[in-house]
Amino acid sequence: MSKMDWVKDELKQLKESGRYVPIRVLQSPQGAWVKIEGRNLLNMCSNNYLGLANHPEVREAMKKAVDEYGVGAGAVRSIAGTMEIHIKLEEKIAHFKHMEDSIVYQGGLLANLGTIPALVGKDDVIFSEELNHASIIDGVRLSGATKIVYSHLDTKDLENKLKENRRSGMKSLIVTDGVFSMDGDIAPLNEIADLGIKYDSMVYVDDAHGEGVLGRNGRGIVDHFNLVDKVDIEMGTFSKAIGVMGGFVAGSHDLIDYLKQRARPFLFSSALNPPEIAAIMKSIEIMERDDSLLRKLWDNSKFLKEGLSSLGFNTGKSKTPITPVIIGDEKKTVEFSNALYREGVFASPIVYPTVPKGTARIRLMPSAIHSKEDIQFAIDKFQKIGKEMKII
Ligand SMILES: Cc1ncc(COP(=O)(O)O)c(C=O)c1O
Repeated sequence: MSKMDWVKDELKQLKESGRYVPIRVLQSPQGAWVKIEGRNLLNMCSNNYLGLANHPEVREAMKKAVDEYGVGAGAVRSIAGTMEIHIKLEEKIAHFKHMEDSIVYQGGLLANLGTIPALVGKDDVIFSEELNHASIIDGVRLSGATKIVYSHLDTKDLENKLKENRRSGMKSLIVTDGVFSMDGDIAPLNEIADLGIKYDSMVYVDDAHGEGVLGRNGRGIVDHFNLVDKVDIEMGTFSKAIGVMGGFVAGSHDLIDYLKQRARPFLFSSALNPPEIAAIMKSIEIMERDDSLLRKLWDNSKFLKEGLSSLGFNTGKSKTPITPVIIGDEKKTVEFSNALYREGVFASPIVYPTVPKGTARIRLMPSAIHSKEDIQFAIDKFQKIGKEMKII
C-alpha cells in the first residue's frame, strides 16, 4: 500500500461512473475546424466566439509587441511589472465599458478569486446565484463572508433573502454570472441592480460569456441592459470572445485604486505578458470598429438552435449562442460525444460536478467563423447519432 493509492481509486471511480473526461489535444490553431489525432474535426466547443484567437491582425499585434516589449512582464504589478501597455489596456477597457477605470488580472478566474475577498470579509454577507461559476464560488469561500445562495434567475428569492439577512453595520454584495456558462441564459441584471440600490448592496457581475456577445459591439451585459450607473463591479475575461488570456474588473476610480492595493493576484502573481496585452487591445479594437462578427455569431447560433430543436433535442433555455444539448445520463452523454468525435465533430461532454447530476449535456459553442455548411454538418451528425442512440 502506498500513501498515494487513493489517487488510483479516485480515477477508477471517475471512470466507472462515466465522469472521466478524456482530454483531447489540438494539433492546429483554434478555428472552425481543428486537427486532433491527425484528423480534421468541426470544432463546436471552444469559447472563441468571434474567431479572434487566430485572427491575422491579432496575431500581428502580438508579434509586434514581442519586439517592442519583450515576452515577459518580469514582476508582479505592484513591484516592477506594470508597463505602459498595462495602463493603456486598463484605459481601453474602461473606455469600451463606459466605466471610470479598470484593473487587469492574469485570468478571469483570478479576477474573481482576487476581487471578491478584497470587497467583503468575515463580518459581511454575500448573496450568490445558485449557478454561479466555480471561480465565483471559490472567491466567495476565500472571502470568509457569510454566503446566502439564491435560486437561479429568481429575483423574488433574492429579495426575500436580502430582507432576511441584510443587516446594517456590514457590507453586502450580490454576485451573479451575467450569462450562465453551462445553460446560456441571462441574469435579470436590471432587477438585481434595483435590489442592490434598495438593499444597499454592491452588485457584481461576471460577464465572461457576455463579452463580445451581448451589448453594442459586444460591450457585454451591462451595456445590454444599459446599467452603467447601477452595476458597481463588472468583471470579465479576455480568454473567450476576445480570444487571448487574462481577466479584468471595471468600476469606479476609487474601487480600482483600492483593488490595486488589495487584490492578491495583482500583488502576489506576476503581471500579464505584454504581447498578450497587445493582442487583447487589437481584439477590442476590431470589436469596436465592426460588428459583423457579432452578427454572424448570432446568425449561426439561431440556425444551430433551430436545427437541433426541430429534430427534437432538448436545447434548454439558452438566450445566447451557448447551446446545451441536454441528454441527462452521464454515461450516455460521454458516449454521444465519443460518437460525434468518430463522425468528425469535436464537442466535449459536460457532466457532474460541472453541471448538476442528471443534467449531463453536450455544450455547443457556435462561432462567427463557422459557415452555414459547418453548422449544418453538426446538425446532421446530431441527427444521425441521436437516432442511433434513440435519443430523438
Ligand atoms: C463565468 C466564468 N467566469 C470566469 C471564468 C474564468 O475565466 P478564465 O478562463 O479567463 O480564467 C470562466 C471560464 O471558464 C467562466 O465561464
